[in-house]
Amino acid sequence: MTDDLTRPLHAPRAAAAGGPGLFVTFEGGDGAGKTTQASLLERWLGEQGRVVVRTREPGGTDVGVRIRDIVLHHRGHIDARAEALLYAADRAHHIATHVRPAVARGDVVIQDRYLDSSVAYQGAGRVLDADDIRALSLWATEGLLPDLTVLLDLDPAAARRRLDADDKPFDRLEAEKEDFHARVRAGFLALAGAEPRRFLVLDAETAPDELAARVREAVAERLG
Ligand code: TYD
Repeated sequence: MTDDLTRPLHAPRAAAAGGPGLFVTFEGGDGAGKTTQASLLERWLGEQGRVVVRTREPGGTDVGVRIRDIVLHHRGHIDARAEALLYAADRAHHIATHVRPAVARGDVVIQDRYLDSSVAYQGAGRVLDADDIRALSLWATEGLLPDLTVLLDLDPAAARRRLDADDKPFDRLEAEKEDFHARVRAGFLALAGAEPRRFLVLDAETAPDELAARVREAVAERLG
């Protein structure tokens, strides 16, 4: 089912010719520094005169904000398949109404988390079938894959120290035990290994400025 769904629907090269824009996602465990890097990239692209749309999953639309509240803050158990479908529902609406129109206008979309998070968290973390989870997201988004996915890789113990230092209450996923987060990390690395052209894997313990420079380089390459 997935063969023709796994290719990006827009050609990255077209961005340089003023055609479709670019779709960049940031992935990694909680506390890896995605938001910081997304902000630094947004600022740099703005300085280059690019129109940037900054967004996230879950919760990049008004419908998504309500779904986000359920998946992150519902008290009590949510069945793993129900959780996977909630993330996929958020994604379907977000991509159709927000991301695809922006890319079609020629904007650069910078997004915190996308389908790789579902494969890592609901697949590897919750131990659902990774291929099913990926196929579900590809169905939900009519096959949209990012032009570039930056994976900020971080040891779960280091991530936990960062989250503890933040002193914010943990959400449902953050509150999972260390072996869950170890599976999530391994899941992300397996995804990156399977699609080396789409992924840029960076050690999240590298200095933020240096990480930002590596990200800029990869984005500049794809913008032509
Ligand atoms: P995030 O917005 O990164 O959390 P925060 O605002 O605390 O930085 O992500 C919310 C959580 O949702 C995170 O623990 C990962 C999880 N998640 C999934 O389990 N599956 C998914 O498909 C996505 C997008 C996120």
